[in-house]
Amino acid sequence: MQRVERICVLGAGNMGHQIALCAALSGYKVECSDVKPEMLQKADQFADNYLKERVAKGKLAQEAARSARENISFTTDLKEAAADADLVIEAVLENLALKRDIFAQLDEICPPQTILATNSSYIVSSKIADATRRPEKVCNMHFFNPALVMKLVEVVKGPHTAEETAETVRAVAEKMGKIPVMLQKEIYGFLVNRIVTAIRTEALYLLDQGIASHQDIDTAVVNALGHPMGPFRLLDLVGIDLVYEIAMSRYRDTGDPAHKPSPYLVEKYVKGEWGRKAGRGFYEYPKE
Ligand code: CAA
Repeated sequence: MQRVERICVLGAGNMGHQIALCAALSGYKVECSDVKPEMLQKADQFADNYLKERVAKGKLAQEAARSARENISFTTDLKEAAADADLVIEAVLENLALKRDIFAQLDEICPPQTILATNSSYIVSSKIADATRRPEKVCNMHFFNPALVMKLVEVVKGPHTAEETAETVRAVAEKMGKIPVMLQKEIYGFLVNRIVTAIRTEALYLLDQGIASHQDIDTAVVNALGHPMGPFRLLDLVGIDLVYEIAMSRYRDTGDPAHKPSPYLVEKYVKGEWGRKAGRGFYEYPKE
């Protein structure tokens, strides 16, 4: 297995800022990079607030918080962020052309042994690996939202991925306090998003048909199935824009009407009611 001490996280959005902090809390030296300085500023502020809050709650020792804070830096300079990384975790927008471009740049910047992993929720790494000269070092490493809390990480091997790469990524996930599962083959949506999508599609169908309100559907799922939150509250957490864009991209690829986003989802998307981050989705989120 390869030694990993330095991790670069690309993208300081919904997932990236928490993946970076999680790695820093686990003792890795982390560079978090984004093209938008305001995203990095937000991530930096979040790290400060989160660590302070954990200490105040008695969930983290002062010394561990100080060391996590020292472990993480933020920069808009991709070269500076990735040049010394043993592992890069890419968590930028779900756009294949953008990801291919970033992986090609990383291939130039990083030493030949650096592992390049994508946190994409649905783009399999075989669509990206050939943008590099190191396809054996490329795989999916998929975290869940909120990444600081959710334990699961899906490690997905493509036909190009070396066993050593997948095992190294699995070991990093474990060191980050996560529970990794290994997918031996690529499949659209991996394990969890296939299951979540099936539940969400049915919930949106029931809503579209006027069978029950979104609140009652959530109440049913929480109280009968024991899920921590129902499908609509989860949509708000994950981001309605993200779910809409993934559904549209799937629909464009397959042309299958079953993959078309539901009318309710389209309405929320068009109105900009994208969930928690927008202050409103299926529920309201007043600013604290
Ligand atoms: N960021 C960081 N930490 C958070 C958080 C956030 N956004 N929200 C909650 N937490 C932490 C809290 O600080 C708290 O920590 P401690 O118990 O250690 O103090 C803990 O989580 C519990 O929080 P709360 O008591 O406030 O609320 P809760 O018990 O309702 O838990 C939840 C919140 C963890 C989000 C829980 O509702 C849950 O597990 N929901 C399901 C989330 C889920 O299904 N995620 C997967 C989505 S699918 C996906 O991610 C696909 C993808 O490809 C992106």
